[in-house]
Amino acid sequence: MARPKIALIGAGQIGGTLAHLAALKELGDVVMFDIAEGTPEGKALDIAESGPSEGFDAAMSGTQSYEDIAGADVCIVTAGVARKPGMSRDDLLGINLKVMKSVGEGIAANAPDAFVICITNPLDAMVWALREFSGMPHNKVVGMAGVLDSARFRHFLSLEFGVSMRDVSAFVLGGHGDTMVPLARYSTVAGIPLPDLVSMGWTTQEKLDAIIQRTRDGGAEIVGLLKTGSAFYAPATSAIEMAEAYLKDQKRVLPCAAYCDGEFGLNGFYVGVPTVIGADGIEKIIDIKLTKDEQAMFDNSVNAVKGLVKACKEIDPSLA
Ligand code: APR
Repeated sequence: MARPKIALIGAGQIGGTLAHLAALKELGDVVMFDIAEGTPEGKALDIAESGPSEGFDAAMSGTQSYEDIAGADVCIVTAGVARKPGMSRDDLLGINLKVMKSVGEGIAANAPDAFVICITNPLDAMVWALREFSGMPHNKVVGMAGVLDSARFRHFLSLEFGVSMRDVSAFVLGGHGDTMVPLARYSTVAGIPLPDLVSMGWTTQEKLDAIIQRTRDGGAEIVGLLKTGSAFYAPATSAIEMAEAYLKDQKRVLPCAAYCDGEFGLNGFYVGVPTVIGADGIEKIIDIKLTKDEQAMFDNSVNAVKGLVKACKEIDPSLA
């Protein structure tokens, strides 16, 4: 059986890391597409040359032609502009919307059956626009945000509790931005919910609140340190986890920016929700019941996403 084909649209910081991880994990052959001539070709060759030492079997190539992504099983989109210090994800909207148009059309024309994972920010609006421009089925176009946000939450919690990250699970809902909703009562250490750990004296509510805020600001913290770009190792790892769930039909339960049509009381919006990813893409959205406070935070987050989608429609009336 031929190896799966993975197309990476954008060969920048995240794109290069995605290619390296896909090769190391032998997820399939990788084609990197980028408008910057030489960048995808150079990164593909560099990674291929690590193959003999690592011992992976995966073909790596770079291109400026969408025809070379023909028949891809997975497309991961990072094309666009990343944040610089002082910029919010929303500042990227106008520039990256235009990029989503060309990418959506390029994927639809050449890899219409692919599972498409969008990483480009502002995420919830860009994945919506990418789906609109591509016309592809909603269950096959998804945004990567929740896996990364919950990974950040898990990391900070493991530091606080002094336990392995493997034993910490975390639950994050809503848009990928300052309004994201980390859900403490569904976040656990070895199954023990965070509010119980506060009651047991393992941590305090103040410390927990500070961790939740640090999670919300997780992307900005890295932008502030790097100064010339935004996070790329953890975002790439998160998207690879989603791609692997699809390619191997793992039925992973992962928080993703998925198209809600009735779930969570939403009609026609992409927002971060718990999903099941398998061979059919987003196979299920787990429509949990929120408490009054959680619902208020979720509504606030959804309103921020709706504002961005409205702005997209104003910039490009073909989306209205
Ligand atoms: N088509 C294809 N590639 C494009 C296009 C386009 N129309 N426009 C820009 N690119 C490419 C750039 O040439 C660059 O190589 O997208 C790449 C983006 O790479 P980086 O600037 O290194 O950005 P990165 O850190 O990878 O982040 C990409 O993901 O997390 C988000 O906010 C982040 O929106 C940003 C995206």
